[in-house]
Amino acid sequence: MDPILKTENLTIRFGGHTAVSSVNFEMPARQLKSIIGPNGAGKTTFFNLLSGELKPSEGEVYFKGQPITSMSAVARTRLGLGRSFQITNVFPNLTVLENVRLAVQSKEKIRYQMIRHFVHYNNLMDEAEKLIELVLLQGRELAIASQLSHGEKRKLEIAMLLALDTEVLLLDEPTAGMSLEEVPAILDVIRKIKATGEKTILLIEHKMDMILDLSDSIMVLFNGKLLADGSPKEIMDNETVQNAYLGGLYDDNTVES
Ligand SMILES: Nc1ncnc2c1ncn2[C@@H]1O[C@H](COP(=O)(O)OP(=O)(O)O)[C@@H](O)[C@H]1O
Ligand SMILES: [Mg+2]
Repeated sequence: MDPILKTENLTIRFGGHTAVSSVNFEMPARQLKSIIGPNGAGKTTFFNLLSGELKPSEGEVYFKGQPITSMSAVARTRLGLGRSFQITNVFPNLTVLENVRLAVQSKEKIRYQMIRHFVHYNNLMDEAEKLIELVLLQGRELAIASQLSHGEKRKLEIAMLLALDTEVLLLDEPTAGMSLEEVPAILDVIRKIKATGEKTILLIEHKMDMILDLSDSIMVLFNGKLLADGSPKEIMDNETVQNAYLGGLYDDNTVES
């Protein structure tokens, strides 16, 4: 099957520094691929290039075979490529339910470019409620966003990303800054999204146990280069990966912000 996302020779330089370097990558549809690599490896920059926040110095990004390299982030979202902080913004003084409802509404606007698309308020609310349940925030609908715990905030962000209803989800360290007790719930949320079988998920994470639990495949970035891409077993057994990265990883289970 053709990959849903593909890059060719994807490269970006900041001044003299090559943050992403000639990356050729293919993402099969409806799978979950984790991206690992040390801090500064270029993982977030790679996401920014996929989502359209950044334009590459060289190379191309393809979505379902179509080059999207020159498309804006909004146009990419409309096509089906979603990044959590893109478009949606959490309003700190609104409730969980209101935030998710607004995100559902913004999808309609993005999708139909505000052309008289009639969406009943109750339908928006129903959809928002479903998403809140999916991310395990039920019971917290009326909580004010600014008063959520860190873990709850990440769940809200995921609900708002899901509200955009994109086929591809880019999740950049969804457990960053969380307390250890909050991590299993996020793992459950991602597992549930994966179990719907409808989404293609790219996940940047540091927690190896979580990555091994969720991933169909893992790609390793190192100094902006794609070091390896394969099944979890292939990556764990890969000597280059072990030497470059995995060796020190198990000692480092710290939560990053
Ligand atoms: N907008 C930018 N301008 C200059 N340098 C940047 C910019 N974004 C990222 N970088 C640099 O690119 C490298 C990769 O960063 P990043 O993609 O954030 O790494 P990761 O997410 O893997 O930790 C780092 O050296 C970082 O300092
Ligand atoms: Mg990063």
